[in-house]
Amino acid sequence: MPATIVLGGQWGDEGKGKITDALAGTSGMVVRANGGSNAGHTISTPQGVFKMHLVPSGILSPGTTCVIGAGVVIDPLQLASELAELRARGVDTSALVISDRAHVVLPFHAEIDRGEESLRGEAPIGTTLRGIGPAYADKVSRRGIRMADLCDERTVRADLNKNFEARNRLLTSYYAAEEVDAAATTEALIEAAEILWPFVGHAEDVVQDALGRDERVIVECAQGAMLDIDYGSYPFVTSSSPTSAGACQGAGIAPNQIDRVIGVFKAYSSRVGSGPFPTELFDETGHQLRERGREYGTTTGRARRVGWFDAVAARRVVRLNGVTEIALTLLDVLDGFDPIQVGVGYTLDGKEIESVPTISTDYDRVEPVLAPSAGWLEDITSVRSMEELPARAIEYIARISSLCGAPVSMVGVGPDRDQLVPVGNLTAAAAR
Ligand code: IMP
Repeated sequence: MPATIVLGGQWGDEGKGKITDALAGTSGMVVRANGGSNAGHTISTPQGVFKMHLVPSGILSPGTTCVIGAGVVIDPLQLASELAELRARGVDTSALVISDRAHVVLPFHAEIDRGEESLRGEAPIGTTLRGIGPAYADKVSRRGIRMADLCDERTVRADLNKNFEARNRLLTSYYAAEEVDAAATTEALIEAAEILWPFVGHAEDVVQDALGRDERVIVECAQGAMLDIDYGSYPFVTSSSPTSAGACQGAGIAPNQIDRVIGVFKAYSSRVGSGPFPTELFDETGHQLRERGREYGTTTGRARRVGWFDAVAARRVVRLNGVTEIALTLLDVLDGFDPIQVGVGYTLDGKEIESVPTISTDYDRVEPVLAPSAGWLEDITSVRSMEELPARAIEYIARISSLCGAPVSMVGVGPDRDQLVPVGNLTAAAAR
């Protein structure tokens, strides 16, 4: 049985965890493909609200194997504490597999992240300061430590020692920062490695074996495709590939093993950190959108920037990622707005442009072409089937589908598991 990719279609925080969680019940396996503890999933279940950063959302579905793939960068201290918390709340974590090839985020990575942000002065990226960029930089520079190395008691102390020595020199001399306490941190890391090593293995083989057994495998990307290192608004991006191609690489799955790519989009837009955001709202409407959508970061607590749905960016993401269907989340947040605007085009210095600018200072000057949709002004949080949706909400969904070039298969009308409404494969033609 082929695999399904769940990816964020915007700048992250689209509610991917909720979609993965919904699919996990009928899947044998959920694999996390990229990113690290910069991500944050909030999942609301009858057992309460769970906030996780590294453990795949599928952990809450009994019987689902959860894999952290080679493309993820793992903060061992964070992962060990997440597992302890899940266990303390009665969640069975035994079906977790951690790739031995996944790179480790070490405490000095966060310090380097902080140092780089302060060197950027007036134009910081607004990273999560979790050390993600520096950890991926070490991986690509071939001086990183992988989970297999961290769990190898023969060499780990020497490896860490070498790393701490070089990085502490860098921290003090280049970033004018404090040294990381190498001795204490080494002990904490080794303690975390002892907790994690029973879960560490050849994740790509585990994934391929599941596919070979005809199990449905869900690959979960962190962040959003607009934050992709290659195709996002560089340099205001993350350091991995939260795309369908990145999902294959990070999970150890071949492209021809994928038959479904679910692009998760909010019914509007949000972005954390700096970078271009043409449909951003700075007025009272933006304030209301932020409050109604509870747009505050899971990882950093930062207020998110919010704006109308950007169909230009979304269409690009659908094309580049082969999105086969859209999950449109947080539709209920728009209950109170009429009209609801959609960014359907871009202008740059007064001229219409067809594509997303590559240079971020150009992208910054882009003005959106907005086109209104009629609002439904009705509470849709208790809607459980497509038939119960107001006609104007169906028109809005159909419009998003037509602008993006993919059918909408489900819509989110609230945070709970049962507030995900299947809408068939809604397209503009089907809605008529
Ligand atoms: P980094 O991934 O911490 O290096 O941050 C780079 C950019 O990606 C910043 O703008 C962050 O706010 C953003 N970012 C990273 N992870 C997430 C996420 O899970 N959701 C939303 N934005 C994120």
